[in-house]
Amino acid sequence: MGLARFEVNMTKRVPFISGNWKMHNTIAESIVLAAAISGGKANKNNAEVCIAPSYTSLAAVKQTVKGTKVLVAAQDMHYEEKGAFTGAISPSQIKDAGATHVILGHSERRAIFGDTDAIINKKLAAAFKHNLIPVFCIGETLEQREAGETISVLESQLENGLKGFSAEDMKSMIIAYEPVWAIGTGKTATPQQAQEAHAAVRKFLTKYSADFAAKIRIVYGGSVKTDNVDDIMAQPDVDGALVGGQSLNAEQFIRIINYENK
Ligand code: PGA
Repeated sequence: MGLARFEVNMTKRVPFISGNWKMHNTIAESIVLAAAISGGKANKNNAEVCIAPSYTSLAAVKQTVKGTKVLVAAQDMHYEEKGAFTGAISPSQIKDAGATHVILGHSERRAIFGDTDAIINKKLAAAFKHNLIPVFCIGETLEQREAGETISVLESQLENGLKGFSAEDMKSMIIAYEPVWAIGTGKTATPQQAQEAHAAVRKFLTKYSADFAAKIRIVYGGSVKTDNVDDIMAQPDVDGALVGGQSLNAEQFIRIINYENK
């Protein structure tokens, strides 16, 4: 462990905790959940709190959290600005609906909807152009982990997803490490597995600049729950969480936001 690593870990990064509601909730249900989350008074770690509802609920959720510090993200977007793209939604449209953040490259988008690294690269470019803060997701499958390929998979997703960007372009970006085998399965990476992956990601990013790598937030996702968040957040290179299942319950999500600082 060299000096560079020490300096990286000395930098204070504001925790970022986001819910990802996936394809859940009507508009009315989204309003109730957003109100319960934004009405939660405690935020003892001074985390940035974000929620990502479906497109149809974005505007209503934005309205609901108005006047609070809760941020609103879209779960995806198309990279084109406008045109004949039936079913797609543009960067300006999600901004218009109230999103300041956008999740890009989620493994469900990659596996079910065919988002490749090249497509995600275009989406990231569109996010930067429109001043949207991307939450860029990367992660290995179980087969890749078992074959010992975890770090090389992450590096290739970073290399290809971030092609053409400078540290300056990416300064607002958040990276989410989400091992595919841990998403929605109840299987969480151990805190050590998470730390190892996060440290490797941060090390990879030093090629842009040491300062950028030290400041960027790398959050963990994959079955984050009230009973494992404390240990995961205790890892030096874990700067937050992307929470699926347990973000659909206000009480559980508020407990996750208020993780015990170990
Ligand atoms: P999960 O989802 O917490 O339900 O595993 C996480 C995610 O997909 O972002």
